[in-house]
Amino acid sequence: MRNWVRERMKRRKKNQPGNETEATGKVGQQKPPVDALHPEPIVPAYHSDAADSAVEDHSAAPAPAARRRVETEVQPESPSTPPPGTPEQKPAQAAKSARPSKGVVVLAIGLPGSGKTTWFKRRGVTPLSSDMLRTILFDDITEQRYQGLVFSTLRSLLRARLIARMPWNYVDATNLAPNERRQWIKMSRSFGYDVHAVFFDVPLEVCLERNRKRDRQVKEELVQRMAAKLKAPSFEEGFSKVTVVRVKPTA
Ligand code: UTP
Ligand code: MG
Repeated sequence: MRNWVRERMKRRKKNQPGNETEATGKVGQQKPPVDALHPEPIVPAYHSDAADSAVEDHSAAPAPAARRRVETEVQPESPSTPPPGTPEQKPAQAAKSARPSKGVVVLAIGLPGSGKTTWFKRRGVTPLSSDMLRTILFDDITEQRYQGLVFSTLRSLLRARLIARMPWNYVDATNLAPNERRQWIKMSRSFGYDVHAVFFDVPLEVCLERNRKRDRQVKEELVQRMAAKLKAPSFEEGFSKVTVVRVKPTA
């Protein structure tokens, strides 16, 4: 009797159509047959953290001396003036050491009003920026709460770009002190990227003056407090190139 029931159950299972409801989550989980019309899918060689740590951890060490460069730029009379020539070398040209770079992460460093966003705009670059994220997350560019959330999301976005092996990556934030820059540098270098600093060495008075003239103003006392925290970038932090942007000296 028992055998008879077992046999019937087996036959019933065999005759049932495949489970195709989405609710079970089983749709599309079987691998399709590989033939001339359906070749194996291309598997991207993603750069995982595990793979990174297994290779070599260069993230904390200063940039190799052979790659270090300092450049100086002068801010133009009008912020809308296009920049001269190509501002950056191609990543492939920049990498002259044994470990070729996968690309570059450019970190802006400067006070509010120092011209960071203008610098990116002049180059037609859309950087990852804390302002952009505040608009996306809170519909309000001036929202100053949830700083931790803004910066952790910003770092996740950069991480996604590095996983996708994007060659040029830009971060528009004040990045005033080494401790604010450390995590960006560490992540970028652990993914095999060079990190460049664009340091806006603009006098506090100029920043305050520009800040007064613009629509979105940052409180003056806050800019002053930030000026006390501002530290120039150094190669020891892990930057391989530092571009210093200054205002034109007045005659
Ligand atoms: P930005 O808006 O570029 O400054 O310029 P910022 O560093 O990104 O400031 P935060 O951190 O987001 O607050 C500020 C003002 O300065 C003028 C711009 O037109 C803008 O009104 N500016 C900028 C100049 O007049 N000359 C420049 O070379 C750069
Ligand atoms: Mg800005």
